[in-house]
Amino acid sequence: MNDLSRALLSWYDRHARVLPWRNIRDPYRTWVSETMLQQTRVETVIPYYRRFLERFPTLAALAEAEEADVLKVWQGLGYYSRARNLLRGARQVMAQYGGTLPSDPAELVRISGIGAYTAGAIASIAFDQPVPAVDGNVIRVLSRIDGLREDVSLPENRKRIESLAASLVPPERPGDHNQALMDLGAGLCVPGTPDCRRCPLAGFCDAFRARDAADLPVLPKAKPPRVLYWHLILVLSGSRVLMRCRTEKLLEGLWCFPMAECGPEENDPAAWIQKKLRLSPESISPAGFGRHVFTHQVWQMRIWSCRVPTDAAAPVGWQFVDLNELSELPLPVAMEPALDCLKKLLNQEESPV
Ligand code: ADE
Repeated sequence: MNDLSRALLSWYDRHARVLPWRNIRDPYRTWVSETMLQQTRVETVIPYYRRFLERFPTLAALAEAEEADVLKVWQGLGYYSRARNLLRGARQVMAQYGGTLPSDPAELVRISGIGAYTAGAIASIAFDQPVPAVDGNVIRVLSRIDGLREDVSLPENRKRIESLAASLVPPERPGDHNQALMDLGAGLCVPGTPDCRRCPLAGFCDAFRARDAADLPVLPKAKPPRVLYWHLILVLSGSRVLMRCRTEKLLEGLWCFPMAECGPEENDPAAWIQKKLRLSPESISPAGFGRHVFTHQVWQMRIWSCRVPTDAAAPVGWQFVDLNELSELPLPVAMEPALDCLKKLLNQEESPV
């Protein structure tokens, strides 16, 4: 074993985080946890991981699930394509691999939802394969160790980090080595304010010697997110509300209220309701505002409510959903401000002053 890994594992044996997906030998559970942990913090993932496995305890159980049920359990975790791909992948493993995940990373990447990182994580953690698993945390740790003072997103620099990662994974305890790098990146080797004094790898670290760990890694300039303005309309018909299951790539499979893109100052959704929904509400009232930040977009929502006749027919592609059944559908967090408005509205209607 190399000296760096020995120091890292000795630190990990004393400081490893106790996490529900550790010390288990179930590749399916490793797959679920690593999928959830992409772009999402450990503390956020823990309750979702528990609930998901209660609901879908085995790969076979997941493969048989309906997509809407999987999205419902994923609701609030974001990046829903991860859930859809995980389900597709589980079905693929049942159909093509006899229900057992392969241990070879080259085979794992052929499965839907499994990229190079997840393949490395599953192979090393669940199958003891000496392969790296390079995520954002690991890139930060290794770019400091290596003293890489150039944009880490450039292909040649990314390759440099990948080969350093591969050269460091020991044949003994490869999964622990990879998870130790992740813990180090999450706890000590953090962005901006690394705690080098407590770091077990300071003696191996070029950036520590050069005192510029805080400035690394060098990342490309992030583009500011695009701001989109929407009218969001709560269309009520008796005890039903109009909704649509999205088919767009963003939030595909999740249910949303009618939304019309508009300019920042536009203040009248009536024409859109008439033209696109072919409904004629008697009156339209402002119900509130909402804002949701995605990675590359911000949604600014002006929320309206209106009533249409109790027997109104839903336009093609839309459904009137019974208010009692709303909680059974998978809704994105972006709809929460509108849901709050809807609750307020219904409470007001129930108790007139
Ligand atoms: N982030 C991604 N995978 C992780 C793991 N297995 N443990 C801790 N943090 C992680």
